[in-house]
Amino acid sequence: MAKPTIYLTTPIYYVNDRPHIGHAYTSLATDVLARFKRLDGHEVFFLTGTDEHGQKVEKAAQDAGEDPQAFTDRVSQAFRDLTTTMGFSNDDFIRTTEPRHKAACVALWKVLAERGEIYLGDYEGWYAVRDEAFYGPDELVERDGVKYAPSGAPVEWVREPSYFFRLSKWLPELLRRYDLPAGAPDRIDIEPESRRNEVRAFIQQGLKDFADRPEKLDLSVSRTSFTWGVKVPGDPAHVMYVWLDALTNYITAAGYPDTSHPRWRFWPADVHFVGKDIVRFHTIYWPAFLMAAGIAPPKRVFAHGWWTNEGQKISKSLGNVIDPVALVEEYGLDPVRYFLLREVPFGQDGDFSRKALANRLNGELADALGNLANRVLSLIQRNCGGMLPGAGDPAVGGALAGAVQALTGQVRDRLDRQEFHLALEAVMASVRDANGYITHEAPWALKKTDPVRMAAVLRRLHSALRAYATLLQPFMPGTMAALLDQLGVPADARDFAALAMPLPEGTPLPPPTPLFRKIDLAAA
Ligand code: ME8
Ligand code: MG
Repeated sequence: MAKPTIYLTTPIYYVNDRPHIGHAYTSLATDVLARFKRLDGHEVFFLTGTDEHGQKVEKAAQDAGEDPQAFTDRVSQAFRDLTTTMGFSNDDFIRTTEPRHKAACVALWKVLAERGEIYLGDYEGWYAVRDEAFYGPDELVERDGVKYAPSGAPVEWVREPSYFFRLSKWLPELLRRYDLPAGAPDRIDIEPESRRNEVRAFIQQGLKDFADRPEKLDLSVSRTSFTWGVKVPGDPAHVMYVWLDALTNYITAAGYPDTSHPRWRFWPADVHFVGKDIVRFHTIYWPAFLMAAGIAPPKRVFAHGWWTNEGQKISKSLGNVIDPVALVEEYGLDPVRYFLLREVPFGQDGDFSRKALANRLNGELADALGNLANRVLSLIQRNCGGMLPGAGDPAVGGALAGAVQALTGQVRDRLDRQEFHLALEAVMASVRDANGYITHEAPWALKKTDPVRMAAVLRRLHSALRAYATLLQPFMPGTMAALLDQLGVPADARDFAALAMPLPEGTPLPPPTPLFRKIDLAAA
């Protein structure tokens, strides 16, 4: 039987700057869900890449004194390297300067034009190059006589011929789809709910303000004042608006416009992971473009929160950008992956602090999980001749076993809602229970008094550890592979279905080695 398919995406990042912790974070969340779904019997397509056109990138290349293509080649490579550094399992890496992508943009444009969804006019209004976004006059704030977008980006007055997309026509349909019940096939699910409410209110306000001239809500989708972009078919004085170009990446990679492409079966995307800064583009413009072109819109957009650094906004000008490569060098890859998804509820803002990182890693990874594994595996080594004991009396550790069995379902439910922190909390709660259990049973003392019980207790704990390691693989692939090696779990028995099949009694286990090292809190 064909496996169910899942399509997951990250934003494609601007190549105006080097990758930082925020970019690593979005891609990490996507990676964890992709890995989880693969282990849970799905066929996954996981896409990331770089956004390389537009005024902002053109300007960054100019500032660097480089030709834009050479500049984007160089910076895009830094994002590609990050996927290796962070252990991302993406199936493709798309660049918007690739021929396949330009072809997809041209094809989509032509469909929109043929369907009468695009028309030529004049744009006059405010534009923020930093956000590559148009803003209405009511959205701006003024400081010292200078106008800024709500994001804090400076805006400039733009007046030029422009093609427009009939966005106004699709707004009521978007509202209808946001509000369909969970599970409805046409639903566009925006999460968390606070973001859905924000987007809905934004559209409702627009529809109200412009009830008598709805065309004011149409979107300018081309520019003539610069050239670094995809040329509009039939009118090369125009380049496509960078967001129309960028968003199209999600269908380019699925083979568009070739809908007989083997990858097209992954479309529509199951989850677009984005930061809260780019919700509007993904939940309004993108589904509207697609519906207008007769293509199914994405099923779900999840917008996570913002990381700050020790309480301060992360920005190049403040010089407090957190370099994920340096972090991984200092703490190791898996501890960093764990911390980023454990510390902050996904969807909320979070503050990066070294103290918090040290506390999590010491308390949960080294003390709780690492020590449990080390105690159990050392006892099996010493007291059972390094051979896995058989299942003993089912009453021994029955409560722990029952709770561990329920864990896969709990973690699955939480990840299906992108509640990464709660998935980890569920596993850690069970690890704490298992630590309580081993202390209570004191198998080291049972060696003399009741060796049969000792063996049964250790077997229970071994099974619990196998479940923790299996479920934590998406979060900490390298370390959990090492733990599964130490637990004697063969490489082909590491998916979730395999948890139902116990390892044979007598499986030889290698001597354990520590999985995590503690961080000196004083130095953190
Ligand atoms: O917006 N905390 O690219 P971008 C958390 N090219 N996440 C952060 C972050 C922070 N401090 N800073 C950045 C673009 N991010 C467009 C996207 S998609 C078709 C085109 C993450 O390089 C977060 O995911 O500005 C945010 O949405 C994204 O980086 C913005 O990356
Ligand atoms: Mg940005």
